[in-house]
Amino acid sequence: MARHLITSALPYINGIKHLGNMVGSMLPADVYSRYLRQRGHEVLYICATDEHGTPAELAAKEQGVPVDEFCASAHDAQKAVYDGFALAFDYFGRSSSPQNVEITQHFARRLNENGFIEERAIRQVYSPADGRFLPDRYVEGTCPHCGYDKARGDQCENCTRVLDPTDLIEPRSAISGSTDLEVRETKHLFLLQSKLQHEVEEWVARHEEEWPQLAASIARKWLNEGLHDRAITRDLDWGVPVPADTWPDLAAEGKVFYVWFDAPIEYIGATKEWADQDPENRDWKSWWYDADATVRYTEFMAKDNVPFHTVMFPATELGVREPWKKVDYVKAFNWLTYYGGKFSTSQKRGVFTDQALDILPADYWRYFLIANAPESDDSSFTWEHFTATVNKDLADTLGNFVNRVLSFSKKRFGEAVPAGGEPGEAETRLGTEIATLLAEYEAQMEALQFRKAAAALRALWSAGNSYLEEKAPWLEIKTDKDGAALTLRTAMNLIHLYAVVSEPFIPGTAAAMRQAFSLEEDTATWITPDEARALTTVAAGTPFTVPPVLFAKLTDDDLDAYKERFGGEPQPA
Ligand code: 2FM
Ligand code: ZN
Repeated sequence: MARHLITSALPYINGIKHLGNMVGSMLPADVYSRYLRQRGHEVLYICATDEHGTPAELAAKEQGVPVDEFCASAHDAQKAVYDGFALAFDYFGRSSSPQNVEITQHFARRLNENGFIEERAIRQVYSPADGRFLPDRYVEGTCPHCGYDKARGDQCENCTRVLDPTDLIEPRSAISGSTDLEVRETKHLFLLQSKLQHEVEEWVARHEEEWPQLAASIARKWLNEGLHDRAITRDLDWGVPVPADTWPDLAAEGKVFYVWFDAPIEYIGATKEWADQDPENRDWKSWWYDADATVRYTEFMAKDNVPFHTVMFPATELGVREPWKKVDYVKAFNWLTYYGGKFSTSQKRGVFTDQALDILPADYWRYFLIANAPESDDSSFTWEHFTATVNKDLADTLGNFVNRVLSFSKKRFGEAVPAGGEPGEAETRLGTEIATLLAEYEAQMEALQFRKAAAALRALWSAGNSYLEEKAPWLEIKTDKDGAALTLRTAMNLIHLYAVVSEPFIPGTAAAMRQAFSLEEDTATWITPDEARALTTVAAGTPFTVPPVLFAKLTDDDLDAYKERFGGEPQPA
């Protein structure tokens, strides 16, 4: 048994996320956490809303509410959707929490004491009309690289280049639209990442071999380009304040830390939020202040977040000169596209997580998304693919098997698992196949290869169907009642096995399958390949019920309706 710390990239507070966000961070982290818990490990799965920065302030302005109120209600709205998706966080925190403020300020003080922070005067865009500096997204204008005229001060959405507000051509204020902008000098704190380059390189070198290629190559690319010193404060109202004991002048001017400085620290902050709810029994520091390396830390994120997690946050942690836990394994994802084009929060293209749950229960989405996770490459969401997968894998292969077996047995043998018959050659073959597939499933889950794990799970479900077709209990019963009883009992054991091992993917359905059997004692959290081989967990005489249809088959009319509502045409990349 090991201690596993798991985090998924913190979703920005501004707006409900789309399926592309979900598949590259929270959902696989949840699947992995559930699996490890079932295998008996001690798991702490932490996530939070990322609440600072210009996007939060601008979204609050758009709604005409104070930013703290906006964040509180937007946090609850996101949390409700994640509950709907059955994401089993140990804690879902908020980066604006007092705990994060405290730890972020502590990090900054320590970095300063260790010579990694410097105050520098820089030139910033100032808007007399708005009476303030305009950091990051508060300035819009034309991208100097590609000419896109709605580029934002931090990044051009069209060519993805990272920008500085002063780079923009014909800049205008995102608040008032004013083009009467000037450049003024102001002081900010800089994190001297260049001084940490060597240490980060050494640290990455010790870890990258174990990381998936996507994460390792992005980390290398950033290190090769060289770590630059970067401003870690901003002129904003909303954020973690610069501590007045260390920087009285900057604090008096109301400077706050840049969102990307405090966001990763919130992984720690949220762990403390979790512990503060039950301080007698929860020890947040044992997860993060891990000098003896007893914790294995796995992070989940999409590829755009990799530089921050493999290079910049580790640089910060190293510079603090305290034994803060650094990531062991970085699970990075490519993009899920919508018909080959971008899912876009700002342009409202694609399927949002709340809309998804309006249409169908979480398990349909969980299974489809993980089975098609953009692991080795981008993958494309289409309604055609979604409905076909639901119908084939979930409705036909799994759902229909469960219903057929239980309904038929109930009809012919009553409401208890039938007795009779001795396992023969077909059962031995089935047991061997199930044991092999289950071992494969375990191996892929341990390796965090989610698509391959889903394929192994699907193969387990298929093995049950093949067995049932081969034994054909509906014919068998005419000549050999005991034989039919054996077949159905074996198939019911498969259902129980599916209930246990499918839980990480489809927890709601797994519970329904498990509850079908009134086992006297059903405490097994996992079934090992060797235990599975025998297929005798559910004994003859066990009462059962037939659950309602597990997965509805989606019709052509459903498909048309989805495409009508969301658009189903290829988008330019
Ligand atoms: O890209 C994003 O959605 C960020 N909000 C991720 C932050 S991850 C962590 F470092 F906080
Ligand atoms: Zn551009």
